[in-house]
Amino acid sequence: MCEKRGIFAFLTVLLAFDGYTTAQFAPDFIHPCNNTESSCLIQATQDAIPEFSKGLPNLGVPALDPFVIEELPIQLPGVKVTFLQGKVTGLRKCQVLNVEAYLERNIFMLEIKCNITIKGKYTAVGRLLLFPINGEGDSKIKIVNSVIKLNIKTKYFKDAEGRDHFGIKNYKYTFDYGDRVHYTINNLFKGNPELSNTVLQFLNENWRVVTEEFGQPVVEYAMNVTIETARKFFNAVPYDELLHVPIPKY
Ligand SMILES: *[C@@H]1O[C@H](CO)[C@@H](O)[C@H](O)[C@H]1NC(C)=O
Ligand SMILES: *[C@@H]1O[C@H](CO)[C@@H](O)[C@H](O)[C@H]1NC(C)=O
Ligand SMILES: *[C@@H]1O[C@H](CO)[C@@H](O)[C@H](O)[C@H]1NC(C)=O
Repeated sequence: MCEKRGIFAFLTVLLAFDGYTTAQFAPDFIHPCNNTESSCLIQATQDAIPEFSKGLPNLGVPALDPFVIEELPIQLPGVKVTFLQGKVTGLRKCQVLNVEAYLERNIFMLEIKCNITIKGKYTAVGRLLLFPINGEGDSKIKIVNSVIKLNIKTKYFKDAEGRDHFGIKNYKYTFDYGDRVHYTINNLFKGNPELSNTVLQFLNENWRVVTEEFGQPVVEYAMNVTIETARKFFNAVPYDELLHVPIPKY
């Protein structure tokens, strides 16, 4: 329903563009808009995503594509699933659908479409359907054409040198799993490949229900990572290197 949570606030970042003359911090793939028209913000965001996703080590901004989920336990009804050494890829190719910024009202909205792949190890212990499960192996989850809508309440603040910065006060998101989620999971039931395959097939046939059940913690985790990444970027790069529009009084 409409309360699915979305991912990738990181895109926030994308507000900016091109630090021309005075830019000291902003990388050159940032092309600041001279106004807040959506068309410019969309283009600027789209331009920034591929490079931004790689991370900006000199600014202390980690990579988002790939990013690593070291360990993520998910308690489902009856089954405890743990993801280990998960690697999330695909964000650098996200397509920007819309960006809106209302500086006076501290609102920033972003809508993107992404194909995301999560690959890693897993363990699953408990009961699944009627069967005791004790699985351990490799898993891959492919999410096709997910749509993430992110609504950020921004703030402004001054750094120690007195330069203005964007900040993130809080955020909300919706995450639509999109056209299809493909699961490839081996060894769900140790020593029983037939049952493993049958259950995997069931998971894929019912991907939407399955994903809504267990996707939320993963999405929430990914969202946290992207928002934290965006915060680091905003802390490092002053407002006037991101947007060439006078900052509202605050
Ligand atoms: C903003 O204005 C500057 C100076 O006129 C121009 O060089 C730059 O291309 C403009 N930026 C965008 C994104 O249109
Ligand atoms: C995602 O992948 C599908 C199928 O390969 C492709 O048609 C679609 O354009 C991709 N979407 C994005 C946002 O890259
Ligand atoms: C996301 O961050 C919030 C606040 O820091 C925390 O309470 C929550 O447990 C985190 N969620 C995940 C899935 O990491």
